[in-house]
Amino acid sequence: MADSTPRSWKSYGKLDRDGFIHRSWIKGTGLPDHVFDGRPIIGICNTWSELVTCQVHLRDLAEYVKRGVWEAGGVPIEFPAMSLPETQMRPTAMLFRNLLAMEVEESIRANPIDGVVLLGGCDKTTPGQLMGAASADLPAMVVSSGPMLNGKFQGRDIGSGTDVWRFSEAVRAGEMTLRDFMSAESGMSRSAGVCNTMGTASTMASLVEALGMSLPNNAALPGVDSRRKVLAHLTGARIVQLVKDDIKPSDILTREAFENAILMHAAIGGSTNAVVHLLALAGRVGVDLVLEDFDRIGRESPLLVNLMPSGKYLMEDFCYAGGCPAVMKELGAVFRRQAVTVSGHTQGEIAASAEVWNRDVIATRQAPFGPSSGVWVLRGNLCPDGAILKPSAATSDLLTHRGRAVVFETIEDYHARIDDPDLIVDETSILVLKGCGPKGYPGMPEVGNMALPPKLLQQGVRDMVRISDARMSGTAYGTVILHVSPEAEAGGVLGLVLDGDEIVLDGPGRTLDLLVDDAELALRRQAREAVRQPTAFTRGWYRLYIDTVLQADRGADLDFLVGKSTSDVTRESH
Ligand code: FES
Repeated sequence: MADSTPRSWKSYGKLDRDGFIHRSWIKGTGLPDHVFDGRPIIGICNTWSELVTCQVHLRDLAEYVKRGVWEAGGVPIEFPAMSLPETQMRPTAMLFRNLLAMEVEESIRANPIDGVVLLGGCDKTTPGQLMGAASADLPAMVVSSGPMLNGKFQGRDIGSGTDVWRFSEAVRAGEMTLRDFMSAESGMSRSAGVCNTMGTASTMASLVEALGMSLPNNAALPGVDSRRKVLAHLTGARIVQLVKDDIKPSDILTREAFENAILMHAAIGGSTNAVVHLLALAGRVGVDLVLEDFDRIGRESPLLVNLMPSGKYLMEDFCYAGGCPAVMKELGAVFRRQAVTVSGHTQGEIAASAEVWNRDVIATRQAPFGPSSGVWVLRGNLCPDGAILKPSAATSDLLTHRGRAVVFETIEDYHARIDDPDLIVDETSILVLKGCGPKGYPGMPEVGNMALPPKLLQQGVRDMVRISDARMSGTAYGTVILHVSPEAEAGGVLGLVLDGDEIVLDGPGRTLDLLVDDAELALRRQAREAVRQPTAFTRGWYRLYIDTVLQADRGADLDFLVGKSTSDVTRESH
């Protein structure tokens, strides 16, 4: 028979030495006797940090979650989880996504809480927190940071990341002064919140809505909009009810929910990073999601949202145009409308009450901003386990291309040679970067959108085919083939490409091939293995990560973290 005793009551309800210890040391935080009467204890897992603007306001937002929890008869208890400031962490925040996931999972499991509200927003915090909460499988809801206000520079809107790439290419091409470039810095990030483009953070927040793990409008309300505080308050109230109804992530994160996330991803022109994060999350809850699902299901939705980097506008505009519920409405019957959400309403009910307020920002399905979006999944001898390409961010003429490889063995090799005027490269070349996968870097950094050689930029070239085992920023663009699996470090054919090799990309046919025969590849593999050096990372998290990380086609999760531990802990601490 199932044990219906509230989880927290197993600690706070005991009239013995253990109960004394649990209660006494939490009453010391300022909680009175009477709240320990079996009411739900709600954890607020907060990734607040001053290390990045994306999460700097989350302590304030947590207070509004607490109001809602108290109002609904629960007890809010805030606890920290590591912040993953995307623009500050080295070698890459992605190296630590799984560490955050493990921290969140074990914090939820180890502490006497009945449900949890996840406060986060920067690129890797949302997937990390979701993965951990999914593996612990206690009732959970997300309140995201919300985007920054639109960036401003010389009288016009500028977008986080996207305009950094644009401006830096302009400087390299001699079209923008360094002084102007530097003066854009403070106008780009001018309030609390995540990047204001449809980068990874806002993509993931939008997918949280599509997955059903937050209240409506979680993604688009600006970080400093008072309505985000209201959303936090309402989330605090709602999580108490979820606990009473015992609705867990495993009840929400169904196959249908992931299909909705893929549809939303295609409709918003979302970040390529969402592919690895959704695959990893699906692995936690046992949903059999594969790379091709993104291509196949994504095709059901055209590009409906006109936001950078695929389009023109920014997240503030998306909010005022109706946000994710309005996109769900436009998706119509394609959206899996019966999918349940933490709000208590189905996605169909949420979509039915939405409106589109600006057709320049959110299009109709009949007249979309682009015919197809999402990601293309490529296979071939260069990427037998897959690679991805974001067509909405690419140059259409390059989506079918044959060219000769210009190879960089490492990111350091790339930096050392890309500006060399003697580099043998032209606009038909294909830039190939190795050693930037999960194991190789380690952590799979966002370097796949390699900047072009200055001598080509000066000739007016603005895009080239680029291939790597890396990721790229969700704010970036170009004909960039990413997440090549297996990566070079794991023995992938990518590691065997040499300067001058011919590579054929057939985007519409979804293939990517190196025109080198198998016998020659076998010889190259032998030669590569003969000079292979042991890893320099011999201890700590890096070592654990390198030894156990899965490839990008499995979400780059750690092999032993796939699946759930559940929230059961049977032993006492004293
Ligand atoms: Fe945090 Fe972009 S740096 S969301």
